[in-house]
Amino acid sequence: MPQMTRAAGVMVADSQVMSLLAADVPELDLAGHSFVVRGPSPLEGAVEVSGAKNSVLKLMAATLLAEGAYRIANVPRITDVGLMAELLRAIGCKVTLPSRSVGGSLIVEVPAEIEPVAPSGIVDQFRASIEVLGPMLARCGEAVVALPGGDDFGPRPIDMHLQGLAKLGVEAETVDGYVHARVQELTGGTIRLDFPSVGATENLLMAAVRARGTTVIDNAAREPEVADLCEFLNKMGAQISGSGSGTLTINGVDHAEALQPVDHSVVGDRIVAATYLAAVGIATGEIVVTGVDRDHMAVLCGKLGDMGMEISADGDSIRACVSGRLSSAKFSTLPYPGVATDLKPLLVALLATADGVGSVTENLFAERFRYVDDLRLMGADIRIDSHHVVIEGKERLSAAKVKAPDIRAGAALVIAGLGAEGETVVSDAHHIARGYDDLAAKLNSLGADVSRS
Ligand code: EPU
Repeated sequence: MPQMTRAAGVMVADSQVMSLLAADVPELDLAGHSFVVRGPSPLEGAVEVSGAKNSVLKLMAATLLAEGAYRIANVPRITDVGLMAELLRAIGCKVTLPSRSVGGSLIVEVPAEIEPVAPSGIVDQFRASIEVLGPMLARCGEAVVALPGGDDFGPRPIDMHLQGLAKLGVEAETVDGYVHARVQELTGGTIRLDFPSVGATENLLMAAVRARGTTVIDNAAREPEVADLCEFLNKMGAQISGSGSGTLTINGVDHAEALQPVDHSVVGDRIVAATYLAAVGIATGEIVVTGVDRDHMAVLCGKLGDMGMEISADGDSIRACVSGRLSSAKFSTLPYPGVATDLKPLLVALLATADGVGSVTENLFAERFRYVDDLRLMGADIRIDSHHVVIEGKERLSAAKVKAPDIRAGAALVIAGLGAEGETVVSDAHHIARGYDDLAAKLNSLGADVSRS
């Protein structure tokens, strides 16, 4: 078992991380700490979304399962990818990030021996860092991983990850903010998740691919990003069936050589695509969003259609046309295929200018409300009633100085600014850069007036 002092030896202080990223990845868009949005202006044109943040980070973690060079294409230029690259480097890998072009590739070179320690300072910057636990256990039989950080939506425990791993024979304890885990031999078992947790499903999948015998994960998450991970692992030589369903069956492969490095292209980001649809819903106009599978957004597109947005899909593009004020609607966030919790702030911003009274009911995270006061500053009429947000739409919002509290809420404030009169300044833009590549440039290509300062 690695000692905490070894972890301390590779610790990176919080304050160093952004400058470290900026130095290592000079082309990354970290310029300016605010978005300045001058509205209102209708949107028109086409915008391409990159691969999904919530897939690529897990694929990067999965590379730890086998030695060799992996090429991952359609990678978004976001800071969380830079953080995961830093984490993999701390573990012993060489990572080359993509150049500035849309849909670039990253290369991960995994050595014969890895250091199964994920240090705080990097890990506590983002939630997906916990996903190295499963692969490290599969590869080394031991892991020391700092407790993960990420957006603050209230408590975000990892009990389901640890309970599931225990079913595979893993012993784990948490000491001083680090999970220390070890296993003599991973052994397949049946795991029934209390809730279809995305992160727990993925961690368990990555451990189970090397377990002796068969593992069944029941009530597994069905998100397209989980299916993308299954596809990646199966290409590597894993034997997973049931991808995209609530029951995953994994026949463990018993020797390291059975898993091989692969090339893979990341599934398109349905949350980023939905952000542009919400943007045109607020700003009006006609846009085409490319690079995403419409089936991954079926429930959302149906609801937006009910609100009056004209939506049609062709291959990997979605055309959306909004000629006037949309009607209000009621949304409820649910695990996939329901409306994603990540869309909640974007939908609240959309409903803030829709005609009538609408609501968004949150069923996943207790405290995903931290942008509401800022939308109120912009004139939105919003009431919180337990886990429901009730919004009475206004003809128009007004510009204000607001602050991004997390990735999606930050993006929601930016798109709210598109429909507001005057200059909206959204500070703490680094949150938005964690999940959106070139948001300002892409909105400007649609005719918006957004700058960074
Ligand atoms: N939960 C537990 N115990 C666990 C794990 C989860 O109680 O061990 C609870 C959570 O507290 C939450 C619910 O289960 O109430 C769902 O959490 P889940 O594990 O599914 O979420 P996650 O894996 O931590 C991912 C995304 C989030 C997204 C959620 C839900 C990544 C890196 N993050 O988080 O994305 O909101 O799934 O779909 O994949 C974002 O991209 O902005 C973002 C926050």
